Amino acid sequence: MAVKSKAKTVYVCTQCGCESPKWQGRCPDCGSWNTFTEETRTSGGPAAKAAAAERRAAPAKVKPLAEVSADESVRYHTGMKELDRVLGGGIVPGAAILVCGDPGIGKSTILLQMCRTIDPGLRVLYVSGEESLRQVKLRANRLEVDGKNVLLTSTTDAEEIYETILAEKPDVVVVDSIQTVSLSAITSSAGSVTQVRECTQLLLNACKGNEIPLFIVGHVNKDGGIAGPKVLEHMVDTVLYFEGDRNLSYRILRAIKNRFGSTNEIGVFEMSGGGLSEVENPSEMLLTGRPMGVSGTCITCLMEGTRPILVEVQALIAKTSFGNPRRVPTGFDYNRTALLIAVLEKRGGYFMGNLDVFLNVAGGMRIDDPGADLAVALSMVSNLLDKPIDSGLLALGEVGLAGEVRSASLVHQRVGEAYRLGFTTFVLPKSNLRTLDQSRYPGAAFHGVSSISQAFRCLGLGR
Ligand SMILES: Nc1ncnc2c1ncn2[C@@H]1O[C@H](COP(=O)(O)OP(=O)(O)OP(=O)(O)O)[C@@H](O)[C@H]1O
Ligand SMILES: [Mg+2]
Ligand SMILES: [Zn+2]
Repeated sequence: MAVKSKAKTVYVCTQCGCESPKWQGRCPDCGSWNTFTEETRTSGGPAAKAAAAERRAAPAKVKPLAEVSADESVRYHTGMKELDRVLGGGIVPGAAILVCGDPGIGKSTILLQMCRTIDPGLRVLYVSGEESLRQVKLRANRLEVDGKNVLLTSTTDAEEIYETILAEKPDVVVVDSIQTVSLSAITSSAGSVTQVRECTQLLLNACKGNEIPLFIVGHVNKDGGIAGPKVLEHMVDTVLYFEGDRNLSYRILRAIKNRFGSTNEIGVFEMSGGGLSEVENPSEMLLTGRPMGVSGTCITCLMEGTRPILVEVQALIAKTSFGNPRRVPTGFDYNRTALLIAVLEKRGGYFMGNLDVFLNVAGGMRIDDPGADLAVALSMVSNLLDKPIDSGLLALGEVGLAGEVRSASLVHQRVGEAYRLGFTTFVLPKSNLRTLDQSRYPGAAFHGVSSISQAFRCLGLGR
């Protein structure tokens, strides 16, 4: 008996998944503009109803909380230390992990490569909705994945993937990518909000119950957000962002959300023809080839999760050729740049009202850490006066509006990392210096400063 299904049109916010019967310019839920897209919904289709009835039949399994095993040691190791670190020490069985990133950044590469490095006893089901089996095989050859433990399938049908997972019971599932997968019961096109949400839910149903970890590849849109609803981020346990300048060879994997580990942890990789290789010492890599004896550069140390990373801040101050002076920071916040320039003018007496200021964090790193303020200020003044800063010097500290240098967090780790790499002069906030055990760094000189003018004076940049 054919039941006629009714098609209705709904409008769905691509940002948050909010639904409305009519189009709206501004989403009432998340407030974003022009995000509503039209979707057709067939409600009450016979297949959907039957499936729902079937699923409702089985009661949920219950278990006393005390008897639920939560053995921390049961984590699968991916064989890539950097990936394990970002995941919080390995893959938790049953976890859903979303891997997002720009096109061509290496999402498929890292997941296929994981098939090679993961414990060969673990069977991986690799579902490619984007590429044919041949294409995946070609990449696998390039990455030297022999693939004895890898089951490959090329499909975009979510129900087919669901059944495959239940039938094969693999140890790990990779779905590349969620935007290509669709459910036939939903009429809107693959990649739409409803499709992405429902397909993810279906895959989660298959994996969670069987304690199978699920990797989902997600595309990002022009603004860098995940293409599809924000709800996708809520549905999964871990969200990893793969980023990096496509023109540079290295890539950074960042945990944005992690239910099984700390966020802010990063993994650093280098991309080459043979795939991604791990970079265990990002500081060394970021500092290679830095200019020596040139004014306008200063080294500081960022904390990325638990890991200290040394970066070089570069400043170039040039005469404005147009009416308005330009402030062009790359890898550093624009407003923070303007603030530091204002503090330098007001509290340091360095006027840049008719000067263009260019800032760059070498190697394409991004600074969010306020502890880098002092280094940024020093590099600007160094360039302004054309006086180089000693190449063995590390500056740390947050700069306040009164020109004061405030304490930075985790100074022990940061100084330790720099000392290990041969840095011997440290300009630190006075408050941090009090708690630092200087005897651990023989041969190093420490300067405690409480204001930017003090810092300039101690570097010979004073007026
Ligand atoms: N033959 C090759 N030699 C060297 N590097 C290559 C080669 N082929 C691909 N790459 C690198 O791999 C990258 C593509 O990686 P990958 O396909 O894993 O990206 P992706 O994030 O999955 O992209 P998409 O979103 O398009 O699926 C390229 O940008 C390039 O840097
Ligand atoms: Mg891909
Ligand atoms: Zn919204």
